[in-house]
Amino acid sequence: MNITIIGSGYVGLTTGTAFAYLGHKVTLLDIDKNKIDKLRKGISPIYENGLNNLLNEVKDNITFIDSWENFKPDAEIIMIAVGTPSKTNGDADLTYVERVAVELGNRIEDNSELVVVNKSTVPIGSASRVKAIINNILEERKVNATIHVASNPEFLREGEALFDTFYPDRVIIGVDSETAKNKLHSLYQPILEQTFISPKNIERPVGYSLPVLITTNPTSAELIKYAANSFLAMKISFINEFANLAEKVGADITQVARGIGLDTRIGTRFLNAGIGWGGSCFGKDTKAILYTAKQYNSDMKLVEATIEANYKQREVVIKKLQSILKVIRGKTIGILGLSFKPNTDDLRDAPSIDIIRKLLSLDAIVKVYDPIAMNNCKQQHPELNIKYEENAEGVFINSDAVVLVTEWDEFKRLPFIELGEKMNNKVIIDGRNALNPDILVKNGFIYSGIGRG
Ligand code: UGA
Repeated sequence: MNITIIGSGYVGLTTGTAFAYLGHKVTLLDIDKNKIDKLRKGISPIYENGLNNLLNEVKDNITFIDSWENFKPDAEIIMIAVGTPSKTNGDADLTYVERVAVELGNRIEDNSELVVVNKSTVPIGSASRVKAIINNILEERKVNATIHVASNPEFLREGEALFDTFYPDRVIIGVDSETAKNKLHSLYQPILEQTFISPKNIERPVGYSLPVLITTNPTSAELIKYAANSFLAMKISFINEFANLAEKVGADITQVARGIGLDTRIGTRFLNAGIGWGGSCFGKDTKAILYTAKQYNSDMKLVEATIEANYKQREVVIKKLQSILKVIRGKTIGILGLSFKPNTDDLRDAPSIDIIRKLLSLDAIVKVYDPIAMNNCKQQHPELNIKYEENAEGVFINSDAVVLVTEWDEFKRLPFIELGEKMNNKVIIDGRNALNPDILVKNGFIYSGIGRG
């Protein structure tokens, strides 16, 4: 199929690259010329597992354009994958989505029929909003075209976005016409039937069965996305609250999580206690659904508590440092990891930034290391007066405590015994329960995880 994707962020770019791999002809439009220049050279502007390789493999099926002037309204499907940031009141900001709708309205040609898909996470009613904007402009232009607007939310984890695109648990299609339904079914057919050969290094998992296709109306599809992210965020906030209690009563949260997770009604995933969730989605989406609920006078106490518990959880690290080191002013604290989770360079809503800010406000000296996210941090947070180290070792030298914030694999394999000798105080706060407490304690460290008794 011939498809156009508007927006080359995490969602647009990985989805577009995956569809190109599956044999569709993809045009990717982004008005950020810098990004498009890079993409034309085969370089991904974001760090995403396997993306650079796949981009180069599929270059015959994908065209990059950097302005609406070069847009041709001849695709069967147009996917909107632009950002929907939070407004200060928590509502999702639809400015970019609406701008795309206006551009489309100005460009769709007479006697055409086309399916416009909201791939971005958008509030309830956005499908009809986009349709109304386009149709109003068409009417003004006296253009006679049939527009179908569908909602097709994504469930991609950053870092694993290509894997999740090729091997999803389910595909959700929110449509209100047969045409939209049929077009989206054809688009997803190779994924729904798993008829493609796995790309190199993105192998089909053993035992993977076909994804379930749920065809529903656009509103249900929009709500599914918010419910999914709220539930996942709630699972993490839930286990974190239990972790805080476990610590007080002398229980080990990792065993509690396993003990409950093996009940298949609960499930073991998303029960890792730590300093809480971050990233571009959970915070934004939980706030946006709360805003919608308020508009309808509908209570969402669990979502409210999920958010509150999460941001409180980031303070746990500071409390632990205060309790172990007593005075923080003048102490040197090493931070391992900046990105909101491993295998990404994304710093949006990253707990690391809140923790660093708090430490600086307490007059600590802060040294950091992250394998990938340091450049982003320098650019996005020039206000942070911190020392960037060239490697993890630098974070330990002369530190009074080291805090593991992001559980990059390389941090789990550090030579802690050797590194401990270079510290002022052998204190480790393990914000992700990623390290082996027994070995550390045996070697003279004061170790404190989250909820580990
Ligand atoms: C999340 C969802 O997992 C995706 O399904 C969804 O499509 C995406 O948001 C989105 O809306 O676009 P993502 O933000 O990439 O994906 O990251 P996750 O892997 O879900 O992790 C989110 C945060 O939760 C991270 O900070 C991670 O460290 C934390 N986390 C995760 C925990 O603290 N404990 C866990 O057990 C799992």
